Amino acid sequence: MNVVESRDLALAEVARAEDHSQLERARVSILGRKGTITSLLRSLSELPKDERPAVGKQVNEAKQSIEKAIERRREELDSSLSNTRRVDSVDITLPGRTQHQGSLHPVTQTLNAIEEIFVSSGYSVVHGPEIEDDYHNFEALNIPENHPARAMHDTFYLRDGMVLRTHTSPVQVRTMETQDPPIRIICPGRVYRRDFDRTHTPMFHQVEGLVVDRGISFADLKGTVTSFIESFFEREVELRFRPSYFPFTEPSAEVDVMGETGWSEVMGCGVVHPKVLSMSGIDPKEYSGFAFGFGVDRLAMLKFGVNDLRVLFDNDIRFLRQFG
Ligand code: DAH
Repeated sequence: MNVVESRDLALAEVARAEDHSQLERARVSILGRKGTITSLLRSLSELPKDERPAVGKQVNEAKQSIEKAIERRREELDSSLSNTRRVDSVDITLPGRTQHQGSLHPVTQTLNAIEEIFVSSGYSVVHGPEIEDDYHNFEALNIPENHPARAMHDTFYLRDGMVLRTHTSPVQVRTMETQDPPIRIICPGRVYRRDFDRTHTPMFHQVEGLVVDRGISFADLKGTVTSFIESFFEREVELRFRPSYFPFTEPSAEVDVMGETGWSEVMGCGVVHPKVLSMSGIDPKEYSGFAFGFGVDRLAMLKFGVNDLRVLFDNDIRFLRQFG
């Protein structure tokens, strides 16, 4: 038996192991139950008694050096493994990770701009329910049952005399019922009508405005609307007040602004009808007011040059990205 030869063969096998499973196979073939070194140890008993201590010592030393070699090889394999892993996880040839930043919807941007203009001149922002009762949506605005103005509203009727509000005007009623003049409010929100084409969607946004105080006149309305429109479009705008009819205002007007394709109607307005004031508990002999209402989406279209209202609600990311 040649201990040195067996040891060198074993060490060479350990050094050749290229991964953990090869190393384990080597360990078993050397130090396992039938391994070469184990067999050497076992065959010690066959030696003459006086040779046993010296050879036994040799075999044990060989065994220890092999165990050390296995341990070292294991550490080498560990560290080279984590090196490859480290290299794999950072591929410096990949493009960097971009962050995608969202942005506010153009209608939200428009609503925010409108609120800012009015709030900065002393108005409060008031909200009301989208599911409204017939009284606030129609009756209290001087639109009684069977009034022809009801037909223009293309109403979504719900159960128990409730409707999806067709305009934000009911919020002015709710405010007058609960608040004493002076009142200076805008009421933004969603409204609903059974209508769908290039310039109509079943849900759209309006802003209602109401000012009630002593001595409010049509001149105040004209000044307010003109300065709002110019702040909103951030330029001088040619606009006109065209006589019109709304049951809740007298006199009434519609406001048109001059755009690239001619006059565009942007809002309705007027001096609050005395009946509307008194129905909500405000004395028309003491107070007067003006009101206006306009479509936010329509204004957004004009400002951003969008010619189909429906694209505002398609949520096509390619469209929305343009407003970041
Ligand atoms: N509520 C009207 C509509 O939806 C808009 C409107 C017109 C509101 C005149 C007003 C107003 O306050 O005075 O068509």
